[in-house]
Amino acid sequence: MSLELSQIPRTIWWDVDATDGIAGVYLIDQTRLPLRGDVLCCRSLAGIETAIQTLALRGAPALGVGAAMAVALWSENESVATSAKEWLAGIDEAAKLIGQARPTAVNLTWGAKRARVFAHTQIEQGATLTAAKEALVAFVKQMAKDDEETNRAIGANGAPLIMPGSRVLTHCNAGSLGTAYFGTALGVIYTAAEQGKIEHVWACETRPLNQGARLTVWELMRAKIPCALISDSTAASVMAQGWVDAVLVGADRICANGDTANKVGTLALALLAHHYAIPFYVCAPSSTIDRSLADGSEVPIEQRDHRELAGFTASGIITPDDAVSTQAFDLLTAEGARALAFKEEHQMVIERKGGAYSFDGWFQSTPSQTQIYNPAFDVTPARLITAIITETGTHKPAGR
Ligand code: MRU
Repeated sequence: MSLELSQIPRTIWWDVDATDGIAGVYLIDQTRLPLRGDVLCCRSLAGIETAIQTLALRGAPALGVGAAMAVALWSENESVATSAKEWLAGIDEAAKLIGQARPTAVNLTWGAKRARVFAHTQIEQGATLTAAKEALVAFVKQMAKDDEETNRAIGANGAPLIMPGSRVLTHCNAGSLGTAYFGTALGVIYTAAEQGKIEHVWACETRPLNQGARLTVWELMRAKIPCALISDSTAASVMAQGWVDAVLVGADRICANGDTANKVGTLALALLAHHYAIPFYVCAPSSTIDRSLADGSEVPIEQRDHRELAGFTASGIITPDDAVSTQAFDLLTAEGARALAFKEEHQMVIERKGGAYSFDGWFQSTPSQTQIYNPAFDVTPARLITAIITETGTHKPAGR
């Protein structure tokens, strides 16, 4: 089977609508994948904020580009400032707001800060307000291009660590969808695959939101890279049977000593890899390194809605030629989201989303009133990380 790397999806880009001339940030709605690759057009800072909070846009490097673009989008479409001073005050506010959309990935505040600092520098250097606004748009567009270049460099730096015939394991989605383009951990896998060294990829499903099952598998299959989905709890047994040669993951924040926050479940994989003497690589741009935090105990960990664990959300699309289902669905959702009440206070909620007969269904699977702890990330200590691969090279974590 020959590779089709041209099928790797592009995640986020800036464009101006040819019909009304309004600028927008366009992104693949990752909540609808793999069924639909809808492109969302955000025309306001609040639109991007919602996309980030609902995980339509996700993954640390993609969040960095998204945050910078949100600041520029505010400047283009929402600012009514007539003076540079007023504009900069608005830019500061916009950067602060978007930087708070999610807490763990440091790239979010990094991207917002880059846009803010760039805007201030333009004015300090004597640019007019109009020129500074234009320059800011060009700057954030360039950030998306730079992100791709960075990821390709991560791929080039990481690929030599992958032995020919490797079976590798990855968690969550550190692919093109988690970046502007190409991916970090998957960037290394794509590059190594181009060099003919990847025999097989194990993709962990990544409960509770299934980024591995929905996104990573979709990306890898598009690129025609041999892969198989496993439940998170199967990782130990594939390692025990000697079927994993390396583990590659992304990162949301890397502390000064190398401790790394990434999608919850990463720590368990690192402990397993250590036990079975399998190299464990963290692949991330240097913008994910936060030297202001001495170690992982200081990383703010996002806590998410208990409903993610109390049940399952599945996106579906009813085919228009299924008349019985479409009529029933029309009736059920005529007044918006519909909660079907079941025995023992259980529920199933269906909600139209994404147009036509696209919907989200949430099915409760736990007893009502179950106490839930649902952190989105965990921290892997530096001592469990074989190397951190960035665009500048391969680094042994300081705390190792
Ligand atoms: O909650 P998510 O989907 O944003 O979490 C994403 C991850 O943990 C990724 O591994 C990380 O951001 C790297 S993406 C290249």
